[in-house]
Amino acid sequence: MENILDTYCATNIEDVTVWFKAASVADFPVDGGACVKYKNKQIAVFNFSRLGKWYACQNLCPHKMEMVLSRGMIGDDKGVPKVACPLHKKTFSLENGENLNGDLEAIATYPVKIDAGSVYIGFTE
Ligand code: FES
Repeated sequence: MENILDTYCATNIEDVTVWFKAASVADFPVDGGACVKYKNKQIAVFNFSRLGKWYACQNLCPHKMEMVLSRGMIGDDKGVPKVACPLHKKTFSLENGENLNGDLEAIATYPVKIDAGSVYIGFTE
């Protein structure tokens, strides 16, 4: 059986070949997250307005393989923007996906850009 985690692959901005238009800026909560679908992926997108930044990562929490990260709280861990899973509070860096309070595998993160009021997420395929 295919491992669902294999669906998600961290993507650097220099490797982006597809900018997927997810929705308009107004569709996302301020200082919160929302889930968007791209092909077979669920992507959590965060409008971190306190930092003036946007982040995207897999919606799948690797702890219990639940699609929940878009509903997590965002915050800061020693200067690192993070999301806390709403189920058991595992936290992940929104910059590089690292599990900040445990030894889970890093989650995949994706580049985000804003253009003419729309939110785009970068993928390699
Ligand atoms: S399912 Fe996310 S921390 Fe447990």
